[in-house]
Amino acid sequence: MVRSKIVAGNWKMNLTLSEAVALVNGILKNAPASEVKKLFFPPFIYISEVTSLIKGHSGFYAGAQNCSEYQSGAYTGEISAGMLKHLACDYVLVGHSERRNYFKETDTQLQQKITLALKNNLQIIYCVGETIHERKNNLQFDKVKKQIEKVLGAFNREEMTRIIIAYEPVWAIGTGETATPEQAQEMHEYIRVVLKEVFNETIAQTTPLLYGGSCNAQNAKELFSCKDIDGGLIGNASLKAEDFCKIIASF
Ligand code: PGA
Repeated sequence: MVRSKIVAGNWKMNLTLSEAVALVNGILKNAPASEVKKLFFPPFIYISEVTSLIKGHSGFYAGAQNCSEYQSGAYTGEISAGMLKHLACDYVLVGHSERRNYFKETDTQLQQKITLALKNNLQIIYCVGETIHERKNNLQFDKVKKQIEKVLGAFNREEMTRIIIAYEPVWAIGTGETATPEQAQEMHEYIRVVLKEVFNETIAQTTPLLYGGSCNAQNAKELFSCKDIDGGLIGNASLKAEDFCKIIASF
């Protein structure tokens, strides 16, 4: 079974609308033709614009950086999974370390978000990863295992076919310090062991696993050539069309 290759750009809280339009147009114009799925995760308010720009371009998809844990109602400032689906948005990020750390999102909230995303036919990129303190104390495997068991353990195998996992060591996000290909491969291989324990061998072998954390045009090739790495979740380097295109070409 061949797993999808994926390059996802997490724009975070960056870009004006006109910069966002220029970025997407630049990528549509220069991206190499390939089987790689190209995903854009703009701020909510740019999603409509992005989906209309990528319409008709095969292999390009839009996603949201977050969704509400509630279905609908009196939750001022929130955006529901159902609203995203109506914008022709196909993916949502859940469990990014910035959401876990700055917005104190709990495992229960992450589970509710995934439940509603699945209900609305969105695919999920679920993020996991250890802190520098945990890695220094050799706790990285325990941490990632718990993040998978506690949150994804609530879902069945059919639901798991709509979930992608991104391994993003917190110490590598936005720091310019990347996990070595050996460190990244070791963790991705371990994630497949955990998926086999929690689900089965098929889920372990078919779930796309992405690496994130200072992945860029220079290091993507080496990371993507690792056996268990199926692509990347890219922050900073997704904000420049040229870099993003080079990353797509890294497979
Ligand atoms: P970075 O961000 O590539 O800027 O490290 C990755 C992410 O947070 O998804």
